[in-house]
Amino acid sequence: MNIYKPNFLIFKDKNEADTFVSKTIIYTINKSKSKINLGLATGSTPIDVYKNLVKAYKSEKVDFIKVSTFNLDEYVGLTSNYYKKSYRYFMDNTLFDKININMNNTFFPINWNAEIKSSRTKFNEYDELIAKKGGIDLQILGIGENGHIAFNEPGTKLNSKTSKVNLTPETIEANSRFFKDANEVPRTSVTMGLNTILQAKKIILIAYGDKKLNALKALLSADSFNEEWPCTALLLHPNVTIVTDLINSICLN
Ligand code: GLP
Repeated sequence: MNIYKPNFLIFKDKNEADTFVSKTIIYTINKSKSKINLGLATGSTPIDVYKNLVKAYKSEKVDFIKVSTFNLDEYVGLTSNYYKKSYRYFMDNTLFDKININMNNTFFPINWNAEIKSSRTKFNEYDELIAKKGGIDLQILGIGENGHIAFNEPGTKLNSKTSKVNLTPETIEANSRFFKDANEVPRTSVTMGLNTILQAKKIILIAYGDKKLNALKALLSADSFNEEWPCTALLLHPNVTIVTDLINSICLN
């Protein structure tokens, strides 16, 4: 198995880093003559990147008509009262409703209010859909404090495809800031697997703030995949760029 060194870009602040990521997305869309597939993340990390994309669309610097999007993950078991906590709502509200993307080309691994009736549900049909549509050209990732990418928690296998997974207590706690309290956070989600993510042609991982420092250090110091830190799967991809604003923490430690 080949191990690659990710490009590591340290920006002086989050604003500069957001500008870099949004410009990279815009460039990727604009240079493509035909359709283009983006893999998108939710969470607080990419919000300003998406705001920049909306601004760029409004000032006619980018057109989303040929763009399809594939989100990384979605909670399972949200009732209709909790629609606004779904990742579908987050994406519609932050980005999709504000640009000219065709909503039929915005995909999630599961509908936010789907009832999973059978234990034999084939979640990995999402991987097949992505492949059928030509694969993801550019994947945007955030990172959890415990090193998770999408909802691939510590212990996830490298060959994992899209599947239903349990969230760890740390992730439930970390994500409780979006809910009234931790009891409201769903216990399961459907997420792209590590293998799904590694199929993308290019990956940008964004890590902002001191809370992500340990995960980032684990990734930068690893020399092979370590199940305890799912982000280390990225070492197996030849085209990964890590973007961070952690200039003081990284340079002084
Ligand atoms: C969530 C999401 C991830 C996201 C991560 C970090 O649990 N499933 O896709 O990257 O946590 O979230 P944040 O950007 O809010 O720190």
